Amino acid sequence: MVEAIHPARRLHGSLTLPGDKSISHRYAMLASVAGGVSTIRNYSSGADCQSTLRCIRALGIPVEAAAGEVRIHGRGLHGYQAPREDLDAGNSGSTIRMLSGLLAGQSFASRLVGDESLSRRPMERIMEPLRRMGASIEARDGKFPPLLIRGCELRPIEYETPVASAQVKSCVLLAGLLADGVTTVREPLRTRDHTEVALREFGAEAESGSGWARVRGPARLEPRELVVPGDLSSAAFFLVAAAMLEGSDLILENIGLNPTRAALVDFLVSAGANIQVVDIGMRHGEPVGVLRVRGSRLAGGVIEKGLTAALIDEIPVLAVMGAVSETGLTVRDAAELRVKETDRIETVAANLRRLGVRVETAPDGLRVEGGQRFRGGSVESFGDHRIAMAFAVAALAADGPVTIEGAEAASVSFPEFWSKLREAASQEAP
Ligand code: S3P
Repeated sequence: MVEAIHPARRLHGSLTLPGDKSISHRYAMLASVAGGVSTIRNYSSGADCQSTLRCIRALGIPVEAAAGEVRIHGRGLHGYQAPREDLDAGNSGSTIRMLSGLLAGQSFASRLVGDESLSRRPMERIMEPLRRMGASIEARDGKFPPLLIRGCELRPIEYETPVASAQVKSCVLLAGLLADGVTTVREPLRTRDHTEVALREFGAEAESGSGWARVRGPARLEPRELVVPGDLSSAAFFLVAAAMLEGSDLILENIGLNPTRAALVDFLVSAGANIQVVDIGMRHGEPVGVLRVRGSRLAGGVIEKGLTAALIDEIPVLAVMGAVSETGLTVRDAAELRVKETDRIETVAANLRRLGVRVETAPDGLRVEGGQRFRGGSVESFGDHRIAMAFAVAALAADGPVTIEGAEAASVSFPEFWSKLREAASQEAP
């Protein structure tokens, strides 16, 4: 699918965004091992979160899904049935890595597969701790999906992850639910803590602080009625676009503002964006608020160290912003970007160049000079949802129309993206 996006002068109005992808995965997985029926409203419409539901169903757990509401009939920690088919995680790193934690403690074997992109993403990072807990895991070439997991009775561990990854931390904590005793994970930099928050919400004994988390197993999880907040990483495209276009005034309703994710808002404000957080409240241990963003002059900035980990999913769209900012954007300590859905250092740079923007890449980052303009032309998603959406934002600020090839990739996290963008920019479909 090709989308043609025309330059826009401003974004305006009020948008509600689909449920947070990270939180949706966690609620669905925990509900699948709780003892009873959980209801999850505003569950992410993205294909990734549907992959999680598909896997849970293949494990014999009844799942009803209609109009943004999902009901999951959990049967406790050992309520899964041995799957009769491969568990297909599609494009979703969160599904394959986090579900592996729950599967490692089952009394049967399962095989997890993914699409072409997922089949190239590194899995040793979860294989190592799960093996230490006692599970047997085989992978293609020792590190890539498909994963063959032979579950067993797990032992609790204290694990220090070499990579700052919330998926790895969550995988170990989910396995820890099934182990007998306290499982502790330490991480080199603080990553999103939705798993720790959700574990407590479902009644598990879980504690966490900056750089560590632990859970006591075996846990009895209670079914819950939950509402997922809007996804801040999806909001990022609208925040950046509205900040870049001078006459914008846009309201984003019901957005998740967990402090381990909200560094995005602080960073944008430090770069000169005019963003106000109004009406903040708490829901199921997660802060939720309304954001108002208006167009302004943008400075630029440096993303490195802990900030890189906190903004890892937003770097593609921030690189777009860097080009039109005064001083540009420097990103360091971001080697992890090379093992996302695509090598995002290269795919961001390739598309920036196609729109006439100068950019230099490094093994662990990039530098986009400021004070540049995007020319019209064509870019590619490379099958990566965040690349498709980041370059739709560039297109709004370009000198001429930009076509985005492979635009359907946006559906991985945000199927409504193109219609919401047109709604806010008041553009008609071509
Ligand atoms: C996620 C963690 C991050 C992020 C991904 C979602 C999560 O991945 O990039 O989009 O929900 O835990 P890593 O854990 O690989 O850094």
